[in-house]
Amino acid sequence: MKPARKLYIKSFGCQMNVYDSQRMADALAPEGYVETETPDDADLVVLNTCHIREKAAEKVYSELGRMRRLKEAAASDGRNVLITVAGCVAQAEGEEIVRRAPAVDVVVGSQNYHRLPDLIARAREGKIVDTQFPVEDKFDRLAAPSRAATRARGVSAFVTVQEGCDKFCTFCVVPYTRGAETSRPVVKILAEIERLAGAGVREVTLIGQNVNAYHGEGPDGRPSSLARLLERTARIPGIDRLRYTTSHPLDLGDDLIAAHRDLPALMPQLHLPVQSGSDRILAAMNRRHTRADYLDIIGRLREARPDLALTSDFIVGFPGETNDDFAATLKLVNEIGYSGAFSFKYSPRPGTPGADMDDQLDEAVKSERLYLLQDAIDRSQAAFNRDCRGRTLSVLLERPGRYQGQLIGRSPYLQPVQVEALSSLIGEIAAVTITDVASNSLFGTLAAAPANEPALAGAGA
Ligand code: 5AD
Ligand code: SF4
Repeated sequence: MKPARKLYIKSFGCQMNVYDSQRMADALAPEGYVETETPDDADLVVLNTCHIREKAAEKVYSELGRMRRLKEAAASDGRNVLITVAGCVAQAEGEEIVRRAPAVDVVVGSQNYHRLPDLIARAREGKIVDTQFPVEDKFDRLAAPSRAATRARGVSAFVTVQEGCDKFCTFCVVPYTRGAETSRPVVKILAEIERLAGAGVREVTLIGQNVNAYHGEGPDGRPSSLARLLERTARIPGIDRLRYTTSHPLDLGDDLIAAHRDLPALMPQLHLPVQSGSDRILAAMNRRHTRADYLDIIGRLREARPDLALTSDFIVGFPGETNDDFAATLKLVNEIGYSGAFSFKYSPRPGTPGADMDDQLDEAVKSERLYLLQDAIDRSQAAFNRDCRGRTLSVLLERPGRYQGQLIGRSPYLQPVQVEALSSLIGEIAAVTITDVASNSLFGTLAAAPANEPALAGAGA
């Protein structure tokens, strides 16, 4: 048996990184690494980083400062702590990280996690930077989680089905950091989800940077669409809820829209980033669709699934964005009635076309627009939540709440719901009557009658 060692992993950024962090922990488990909640007693620290905006990348360097001090303190106690930087900053900056933060021992790109145990072993002799895109598929080589590890991670799980992106939006680093679009084969994804279901997982979110471009090899050897994959996933016993994220409007085909009508397990919530409501800016962003195209897709989705809750991402202050362009974004938010959205100030990323555009906006303009947009989004979200008061929704009870006797779950629309319930109900999908709403969550009580949202009543067709 390998001696027990402690591993602290911190994830920055998107759900893909959360999933990757879990897989890194799985890869290191056979080496004797057990996860710990704090870096203080760790033998190995892994920072799984995000490069999407400058702020996200800078956070990593400040965290590395803290880790260096921990490493020095451990060294004075005779303990050797290894520091690894993984993820998109690792991929984008490679050697530069070791130059800027010499306490770092290993830099590993997002396609090379399966080599982590070997890299860590070699790091005892010197610094290692591994950011090549390898020929082999990391998913074929990564260890599966134990049942205990899966159970500890909860009843809702992410599964990466697609990675990378070929869209090249002019603001975005993903096509450079995560590389070209690739899809995992259907059979491998289903096997992974069957294992999760066997360990008690009830809800699966299929994830990818551009997940609806999924075209993995099907069992018949031909490419499968995301809609087909969702259909097959819905047949796995124990998996009662499905979601997928993040989608690009251009790849939202008719079969996927129909899946929202035909698959009861597919939850009525969709994250469909639009970034801007102005056609001029959408074109400058190379989004390859117009505002009208987006509205048309939303219209068809709502026809298929009338209670569909929509969320989005927005960028304010893209180069050349005028007051009129921004007004068009605000108008779109009010028109759609989002159940929530993320909004960001444009952050020029080196190497992307947007960073070289002439008409960069002032920080003050960006800040003001962000404030106004967030206010519009908050009002939209509050209205959506208010409409849930008095309804009975099906809630997947996920974990204990802050107070004794309270559980936290998720509604079909992805809202967090706080419910008075015994912890033995964790993992159950319960009918909950919503009694109160706050800006970001709902409060409810267990209902005697089943939930009455269209999802369970069979309406929507
Ligand atoms: N600046 C600001 N926001 C960005 N995003 C991606 N790149 C940038 C950037 N350079 C946002 C987009 C995307 C989300 C994940 O991050 O809204 O959908
Ligand atoms: Fe980035 Fe998404 Fe555009 Fe791909 S589709 S380049 S991941 S914003």
